[in-house]
Amino acid sequence: MQVLKTQKELKGAITNLRGDKGLGLVPTMGALHQGHLSLVERALRQNDAVVVTIFVNPTQFNNAEDLEKYPKTLEADISLLKKASEDIIVFAPSTEEIYTTDIRSKKYDLNGLEKVMEGAFREGHFDGVGTIVETLLRMVEPDRAYFGEKDFQQLQIIKKLAKTKKIPVEIIGCPIVREPNGLAMSSRNERLSKSLRKEAAFIYKTLKAAKKRFGTESAKSVTDWVKKQFMGHRHLKLEYIQIANAETLTPVKRKSNQTKYRAFVAVYAGDVRLIDNIALN
Ligand code: PAJ
Repeated sequence: MQVLKTQKELKGAITNLRGDKGLGLVPTMGALHQGHLSLVERALRQNDAVVVTIFVNPTQFNNAEDLEKYPKTLEADISLLKKASEDIIVFAPSTEEIYTTDIRSKKYDLNGLEKVMEGAFREGHFDGVGTIVETLLRMVEPDRAYFGEKDFQQLQIIKKLAKTKKIPVEIIGCPIVREPNGLAMSSRNERLSKSLRKEAAFIYKTLKAAKKRFGTESAKSVTDWVKKQFMGHRHLKLEYIQIANAETLTPVKRKSNQTKYRAFVAVYAGDVRLIDNIALN
């Protein structure tokens, strides 16, 4: 398996790789788990060759401590990827290789998608995500790029970004992979104590109950109920619950049968911030 550090090496490795099926890209920040691997496996099935990038992108962290504490496990990541396929091309550049002059994001206007939920609570986050994803798409020029529904807002934003910037790539969304107890897999779960990891199963349990309620209740009644559940929880703190149109991410006002909705939450488990979401219909 090739592990490349520079753009020049990457360019060299991907020239002539594209066969009939094309080239796939899976961007990650490493600390890989089964959620990431599900994207990689799908990419391997649908393409002739797959580039997996591992880069902890500093500009998408709105909190210096979060960046510092983000798990970095390159050796373990490489052996996991090797097990998936020896043919994967891993691109793990340094910060200087990506941000050659200064470590700064570009600004994106994506029709308000970037302003709600994670965009509202994490200032500048999606400018950072947009900057790195646009850079990687332009560097690799993949036919398909894979993103998880775990970060559903990010997925919608990247679809919009590719369309707005006319980048010829198919953005493919992949379902959320969960721990046996329902907790959405995340690199940040590594930072949870054993007992908090157990407690955090409450997040998905509550989302599933919210989905059931949404069948007969208004969005307000469901979100009020969710808030109440978290208020009664000793170890988890709800930052937001939002029921939104799954396409536009605008908050639901009056329910309509023609519209697809999703419920989104951000929750603190100790000092670890977790996000999750669920399709409601
Ligand atoms: P990261 O959190 O490492 O996630 C990389 C990709 O894996 C994202 O598309 C994310 O949605 C997906 N993913 C993570 N956990 C998942 C799970 N439990 N089930 C399914 N998919 C999952 O998201 C990022 O990195 C960064 O923002 C990035 C896009 C790489 C830009 O820096």
